[in-house]
Amino acid sequence: MRIPLSSPDITESEIHAVTDVLRTPRLSLGPKLEEFQNAVAEYTGAAHAIAVNSGTSGLHLCIRALRLGEGDEVIVPSFAFVAVANAVRYERAIPVFVDVDPETLNLDPAKVEAAITPRSRAILVVHTFGCPADLSSILSIAQRHGLLVIEDACEAIGAEYQGRKVGPLGDAGVFGFYPNKQITTGEGGMIVTQSAELAALARALRNQGRSESGEWLEHGEMGYNYRVSEINCALGIEQMKRLESILKKRDSVARGYHRRLSGNPELKLPPVDVPGRRISWFVYVVRLGAHFTQRQRDWIWKEMASCGIGCGRYFAPIHLQPIYASDPRHDLPNTEWSAGRTLALPFFNNLRESEIDEVCQTLQELMKAAPD
Ligand SMILES: Cc1ncc(COP(=O)(O)O)c(C=O)c1O
Repeated sequence: MRIPLSSPDITESEIHAVTDVLRTPRLSLGPKLEEFQNAVAEYTGAAHAIAVNSGTSGLHLCIRALRLGEGDEVIVPSFAFVAVANAVRYERAIPVFVDVDPETLNLDPAKVEAAITPRSRAILVVHTFGCPADLSSILSIAQRHGLLVIEDACEAIGAEYQGRKVGPLGDAGVFGFYPNKQITTGEGGMIVTQSAELAALARALRNQGRSESGEWLEHGEMGYNYRVSEINCALGIEQMKRLESILKKRDSVARGYHRRLSGNPELKLPPVDVPGRRISWFVYVVRLGAHFTQRQRDWIWKEMASCGIGCGRYFAPIHLQPIYASDPRHDLPNTEWSAGRTLALPFFNNLRESEIDEVCQTLQELMKAAPD
């Protein structure tokens, strides 16, 4: 694509930091892991950070370490990446899909409360596209009903809720570092928590369940290989140093889109200012107006691609995926309505003003030209 949907931003000094690791004898479980974990813990205000090899493995370890298991219900959004529900299913717990607020596309707290049953154990709240969810409502619902809260902050590093960084505000949280994210380690993720006990268990489970204090090769738990290499961590350390400046650049790209598109009544734009919240922009997702069909959205998406402009269709509802669709209980009108009309526009740190101009112009021309 001439203007891709996303584009990683890696500096020469970051490339040097990665190659320097390759000249050392420690390629895994070494000092870079510690340094990366410390950087994320300090930045987010978490007492503990545990680096893993993906956001998905981070979510899975949270479910496992919080002892969620067979028959336990975990409330999740359906308007989200499929890993959110899969991580619950890995432990034979049950994802209960709840609808989103049509403005922020985050879990609707009233609907969360309505979905609670005697089997509910946890709420997995996603900060969709980097916009913090209504955490005070979610946390107070959880407290009233004795539920655990896992923050899926894979799309939201640096986002703030009432002045505090998202991630460690519930029982555990997870960041993701896939290359389309605000910062990347190639592949990678990070669990954050204020609980020393949970952190120790997550560290053990990351490394085959090997106990930290016990004998060499003593396995107290059945764990996994969710370790992340020193090479990935070296990149993460350097990217963390630039995170604030990256977030400023992304905020300015989002505002650039907002300025150009806000006069168009056929488009619903993401909010750029939400009181009490700082958005950490992951992607910029517009929704086509009510009279556009999903078929027309797909036509625009394809035509944008043939003009060299990469767009995405985020998200396809999880509850409609073949692996989840057998449960007939779903009533998620906002999720289904939004999912059929989203278009994620090209979004990355160094997107130029002239490229934003071109994307906005092409999009609006194609909206006029879309066949019935
Ligand atoms: C909300 C959300 N959760 C989880 C994940 C999974 O992260 P990863 O791809 O690093 O496994 C992603 C990744 O894109 C995500 O957007």
